[in-house]
Amino acid sequence: MSRITAAITAIGGYVPDYVLTNQILETLVDTNDEWITSRTGIKERRILKEDGKGTSFLAIKAAENLIEKKGLDPKEIELVIVATATPDMKAAATSAYTATQIGAVNAFSFDLEAACSSFLYGMSVAARYIESGKYKKVLLIGADKNSSMINYEDRATCIIFGDGAGAVLFEPNTEGYGLQDELLRSDGAGREFLQATYGGSSYPSTPEAVAEGKHYIFQEGKMVFKNAVFNMADVTEKILVRNNLNKDDIAWLVPHQANKRIIDATASRIELEDSKVMMNIHKYGNTTSATLPLLLYDYEKQLKKGDKLLFVAFGGGFTWGSVYLTWAYNS
Ligand code: UT7
Repeated sequence: MSRITAAITAIGGYVPDYVLTNQILETLVDTNDEWITSRTGIKERRILKEDGKGTSFLAIKAAENLIEKKGLDPKEIELVIVATATPDMKAAATSAYTATQIGAVNAFSFDLEAACSSFLYGMSVAARYIESGKYKKVLLIGADKNSSMINYEDRATCIIFGDGAGAVLFEPNTEGYGLQDELLRSDGAGREFLQATYGGSSYPSTPEAVAEGKHYIFQEGKMVFKNAVFNMADVTEKILVRNNLNKDDIAWLVPHQANKRIIDATASRIELEDSKVMMNIHKYGNTTSATLPLLLYDYEKQLKKGDKLLFVAFGGGFTWGSVYLTWAYNS
């Protein structure tokens, strides 16, 4: 019997309607469009404004988009993984609510959290279920409502993050398409440079902490930047070498969208031309778990069966890695 590989067979995406432009941010903090554009590549981000709507709202919309495009019966989905750093609530899994709302009534589900690497790690997990031969339809959703943990008085973070969601369906493939290799890493020494300190189990929220804004995300941007550049370039180069690939074999680099300068540095390490680098940071900013599937969503029509894709991400923790996947269909 031929080996089972885990192929992506459908994509969905969703971003909220509200557009937070650099010009609007100029009215909130001491910043300007020229600085943000030249230092990050971001022009605008989408924000989910409606009260009471959390990450599941974004996840459900992206999944429904996939289900409609694919003509999929949600009852056939066996597993729903929601990769997110901003779950709806503590204790109740965002994935369970999401799965029920999209009609995936025969599925089990769980959340997966690895900061900005959540979706990348989720690809690895989804692939293992498919490769086992036991599961035929695994829905992986990357969704984050980052605006829920941003201090719009902190110019080091509010200019970067946005809200959004993307979904992919993994199915078994016997022609060799799909996930080929992965190189995933983490290093807890990075925790001090990027975190939301209060609101977790170490430091539960107190009125004082909230009043001081300690529940918001905080980062030492320069340290995160340096580590992101070094580690994203490192795993990208290593996964190429160990799969005997050179840059001309690669159809697309699919990099986490945190800062255009980090993306450019990663591409230039393997001397990849700009035309092969997926980019949508200018319109969405950093959507954490949603960056990679939203790139696939935006570029789907340009993808061809057999294209070799290199995914790469870096995030809080620190967490990072690269996934090598061959594309399984023409749209
Ligand atoms: O997904 C993983 C999570 N996050 C990341 O990957 C983010 C990684 N880090 C970054 O993208 C960048 O470090 C930032 C975009 C956050 C900051 O860019 P930077 O080039 O590292 O700037 P910096 O913090 O070194 O600051 C340079 C200057 C400083 O002024 P002085 O000291 O040179 O006078 C800052 O005060 O720019 C100033 N600055 C700003 N000016 C206007 C910092 N933020 C801003 C701002 N607008 N928003």
